[in-house]
Amino acid sequence: MSRLNLIDTHTHLNDVKFADDLDEVIQRASDAGVERMIVCGYDLQSSESAIQLANTYESVFATVGIHPHDAKSYTKEAESILKEFAADRKVLAIGEIGLDFHYNFSPREKQFAAFEAQIQLAKKLGLPIVVHSRESNPEALEILKSRSRDIVGCVFHCFSGDADFAREVLEMGFYIGIDGPITYKASQKLRDVVAMCPLDRLLIETDCPYLTPVPHRGKRNEPAYVVYVAEQIAAIKGLTLEVLAQTTTDNAKKLFAAREPEAV
Ligand code: NI
Repeated sequence: MSRLNLIDTHTHLNDVKFADDLDEVIQRASDAGVERMIVCGYDLQSSESAIQLANTYESVFATVGIHPHDAKSYTKEAESILKEFAADRKVLAIGEIGLDFHYNFSPREKQFAAFEAQIQLAKKLGLPIVVHSRESNPEALEILKSRSRDIVGCVFHCFSGDADFAREVLEMGFYIGIDGPITYKASQKLRDVVAMCPLDRLLIETDCPYLTPVPHRGKRNEPAYVVYVAEQIAAIKGLTLEVLAQTTTDNAKKLFAAREPEAV
């Protein structure tokens, strides 16, 4: 079989759960055909460690940003630190940013403010954004629509809407990130989204250590398992795994192209 060329576009290898065996995790990813991994920041500390990992491993890239959970920590000072972080050549995007009305760890007004400010920051830097939205899809899309001219590129990471919502996201020119839940029996809605989504707008992700796909569900997730996500999408689309891998890799390169060719 020819070698796959996958990109896991959303990982948290900066999570403490990878502290003890990261070399092995990255080796297993490489053995499985995952050539690149993007480590996403969710606060200042995790953004900094994402950059450190990206500068340690050639196959690792980073995003920097403040997650809606931590929106209350978004200050002018935090913003200028993010700006400094983003100067690193391996930082490909601002994220993950957005809204989360499931947990509401930060008050909603703070979430809105941090989201809008980071969209602006991404615009200034000429970088795409990685959006997290949980139980807040209409509100997140409304903000993105009102700022559409400011957005270089955008992925709805770990997409959780239905096909109608996906249509609206696609109309904006955004990408849809698909994770391990595509392999779960209960996820018919997500499979319907994949079925209707044009091939050139799909990205694959693990969001590891979370959302472990079948057959490893219940264990820690890791980038090597993005293959199971890719296989499921290939089956839905009636494509070979090789074609699906190449297509989603091309998509990732296009979205995160602000720093190509040196970076990606
Ligand atoms: Ni994430």
